[in-house]
Amino acid sequence: MTETQKTAKLSLNGQDYELPIFSPTAGPDVLDIRKLYAQAGVFTYDPGFTSTASCDSTITYIDGNEGVLLHRGYPIDQLASKSHYLEVSYLLLYGELPTATQLEDFEARVTRHTMVHEQMHNFFRGFRRDAHPMATMVGVVGAMSAFYHDSTDIADPWQREVASIRLIAKLPTIAAMAYKYSIGQPFVYPRNDLDYAANFLHMCFSVPAEDYNVNPILSRAMDRIFTLHADHEQNASTSTVRLASSSGANPFACIAAGIACLWGPAHGGANQACLEMLKEIGTVDRIPEFIARAKDKDDPFRLMGFGHRVYKNTDPRATVLKQSADEVLELLGVEDNPLLQVAKELEQTALNDPYFKEKKLFPNVDFYSGIILEAMGFPTSMFTPIFALSRTVGWISQWKEMIADPQNKIGRPRQLYLGQTTRDYVDIENR
Ligand code: SDX
Repeated sequence: MTETQKTAKLSLNGQDYELPIFSPTAGPDVLDIRKLYAQAGVFTYDPGFTSTASCDSTITYIDGNEGVLLHRGYPIDQLASKSHYLEVSYLLLYGELPTATQLEDFEARVTRHTMVHEQMHNFFRGFRRDAHPMATMVGVVGAMSAFYHDSTDIADPWQREVASIRLIAKLPTIAAMAYKYSIGQPFVYPRNDLDYAANFLHMCFSVPAEDYNVNPILSRAMDRIFTLHADHEQNASTSTVRLASSSGANPFACIAAGIACLWGPAHGGANQACLEMLKEIGTVDRIPEFIARAKDKDDPFRLMGFGHRVYKNTDPRATVLKQSADEVLELLGVEDNPLLQVAKELEQTALNDPYFKEKKLFPNVDFYSGIILEAMGFPTSMFTPIFALSRTVGWISQWKEMIADPQNKIGRPRQLYLGQTTRDYVDIENR
C-alpha cells in the first residue's frame, strides 16, 4: 500500500464515514471497505465482481482500455517474441527474469518432475474413452493429492516449492495422457532431452511404432501459446484457486478447482466453443446470419472468442496469436484454411459493426488459438486442456503470493438476501 492516505467520504443514514483509498503502481485507486459493515452495518453489492479488487498482487497487470498486459512489468508481446514459456514461468513465480544459471537450474528441476506416479495410469482407465479430457484432468490432478503427500503441507515453504514444480512439470504429461487415452493409444513417457513444448507434442503425437521428430516450427508455436495463456490477473479460474486455497486446501485440490472453473465456455472453454462456432458458420457468406444472432437479445447465442470483462480494446494476446496463426498455417501449407478465412472475415465484420463497437467487443485470446491448435493436429476437446496446462503456472504463482500475504484469510462473501423472513413449520396435513 502507498503511504499517502487519501480517503473517500460516504454519507449514509445521517452518518459520514471515511473510507481509506489506496493507490496502485498502475491502474485505478481502490476503496478500502473492510470495516464498512462493522462501522455502517451495510454490505457492498457487486455480483460478478465487476468493480471489486479481491487482493493485492504484483504478478500481472492488465489495462483493458489500452489493451496492455504485463507480467511482472514486462509487456506480453515482448515476452511472446523474445522469451519462452519456462522463462516466463520463472518470472511469474519468482518476480524477476532468471540469469542463465537460474534458468538452467529451473528447467532441470521441471524436467525431472515430468513423470507421474506409475499407479496414476490406473486412474485414466476408470474413465470412459469418450470422457472429455477436461473431466479426466480435473479428476487426475485432484488425485495428485493422494500421491504426493510430501508436498501438501502449505505451511512449509519447501513443500509449496515442490508442489509448484510438480504441477508445472506434470500437467503436460497428464494432459497428453488424457488425449492418448481418449484415442485409444498407449501413454507416451516424457523425454528429458526435449524442451517443455516439444516434450508435450512428443507425448501427444508420437507412437511406439515409429520415430517421431518434433517440428521446431510447431514446438515454437506451441511454446508461444503456452506463454500467452500463462497468467491473467484475477480471472474466474484464478479467483477460484485463490478462494479454494483460502480454506487451506492442498495445492493439487486448488488447481483441480481452477481447471474445473476454466472449463466453462464463458472462460477457457471458449477456445473449443469458438472453433466449433467457426465450423458451424462454415463459409464467409453465412457470417451475417451469425452476427445477427449475436445481436439478437432473444437469442442466447454469443460470438465465442469475442468480448472480455476487462479488455475494452484489443486483447494483446489475440494480436500475437493472429500473427502466429498466419505463420503456422503458412508453414504447414494450409494458409488457405477456410476456418482462418471465416475467422478473419468475421473479425473484420464484427469490428465494423456498430453493435460490437458500442459494446467494445473485440477478439480475445480464444479467438485465434483454436485455429492454430487445430492446424497442429489437436482435436477441439484438447484446446481447453492446453489452456489449463498453460495457466497452471499462473494459478500457482497467484496461490503462492496469496499464502505469503499476511492479510490472507478465508474468503467468505456475504449476500443481498431476498428470500422469506422467519415463518413457522406447517404440518403436511395443513398444507
Ligand atoms: C477468457 O477474465 C479473464 O481474464 C479471462 C481470460 C483469461 O485469460 O483468463 O481472458 C480468458 O475467458 C476470455 C473470454 C472467453 N469467453 C468467450 O469468448 C465467450 C464469449 N464472450 C462472452 O461470454 C463475454 O464477452 C465474456 C464472458 C467474456 C465477458 O462477459 P462480461 O464482461 O460479463 O460482459 P457481459 O456478458 O455483461 O456483456 C456485455 C454486453 C452484453 O450485452 P448487454 O446485456 O449489455 O445488452 O456485451 C454483450 C452482452 O450480451 N456481449 C456479447 C458478447 N460478449 C458480450 N454479445 C455477443 N457476443 C459476445 N461474445
